[in-house]
Amino acid sequence: MRQVIAQTKNLHNLAEVGQALSTRTPDLPGIGLIWGPAGHGKTTAAAWFRDRTDAVYVRAQALWTPSGMLSAICRELDIMPAARCSLMLDTIVERLATTQRLLIVDEADYLLRSGRLLDTLRDLHDVSSAPVIVIGMADFRRRVASREQFAGRIAQTVEFRAADLDDVRVTAEACCEVELADDLVERITRETQGSMRRVKVALSVIESWADRRGCKRVSLAEWGDQPIDGTVGAGRKPTGGGR
Ligand SMILES: Nc1ncnc2c1ncn2[C@@H]1O[C@H](COP(=O)(O)OP(=O)(O)O)[C@@H](O)[C@H]1O
Ligand SMILES: [Mg+2]
Repeated sequence: MRQVIAQTKNLHNLAEVGQALSTRTPDLPGIGLIWGPAGHGKTTAAAWFRDRTDAVYVRAQALWTPSGMLSAICRELDIMPAARCSLMLDTIVERLATTQRLLIVDEADYLLRSGRLLDTLRDLHDVSSAPVIVIGMADFRRRVASREQFAGRIAQTVEFRAADLDDVRVTAEACCEVELADDLVERITRETQGSMRRVKVALSVIESWADRRGCKRVSLAEWGDQPIDGTVGAGRKPTGGGR
C-alpha cells in the first residue's frame, strides 16, 4: 500500500473550512466545528491540512486541565510552558494575534468534560481573533450546541460523512498498488459502510492477496466470496468464481 492521503470529499471540505476561517475578517466569529464517527478520516484530514499550512494541531486528552491544554499549545508554538495559566494564555494570545495561525483541537469531545477548558479556548479565540477548529465525534455538534457562548462563535461546520463510491475509488487509486474493478470497489463501499479505516483494511487485504498471485487487477468475480475485513479467511482460495 502507498502511504498517501486520498483526496476525498471530507478532506476537501475540511480544507475549505480552514481557508474560509483563515481569510475571514477578524471581527467575525472564527470557530469551525468538524464532527463525524470514528474512522471517517478526521484526524488524517486535519494532519494533512496542518502539513500544508501553518496551522497548529493539538490533540485533547482525557486528563487535560486548562494548564495541560495551554502547555500543549505552547509546545506546538515553540513557547516554553509556564507554571501560571494566565501567563501561558497571555503569551499564546499574543503569538496567535500576531500570526493568526489556525489552531486545530482534535478529540475535542474531551473539552466538554469541563466548562473551564471550553471557556479557556473561547478566551483564546476571542482575544487573539485567531481561527480555531474543533474536531469531535458523531454527537459532538449536538453537545456543543448546549454551550451557548461557544456555539455562538461557530461560523463553519463540516460533517464527516461516510465515504461514497467516488471516495473509495479515489482512495483505491491513490493507495492500492493493484487495480480494482468497479464492482469490487462497490462491494468495498457497501461492506465498509464508508469507514475510511475499514476501506484501508479492505484495500490492504485485497492487495496482499493479489500480490501473492502476481495479479495486477482484481474484479469482484476473481475475489469471489472471500471476506474483505481481514479477520477470517483472507487469502484463502475463493469458493466460487475465483482463481
Ligand atoms: N484521506 C485519507 N487517505 C488515506 N487514508 C485515510 C484517509 N482518511 C483516513 N484514512 C485512513 O483511515 C484511518 C482512520 O482515519 P482517522 O483519520 O484516524 O479517522 P478519525 O479521526 O475520524 O477517527 C487512518 O489511520 C488512515 O489509515
Ligand atoms: Mg481521530
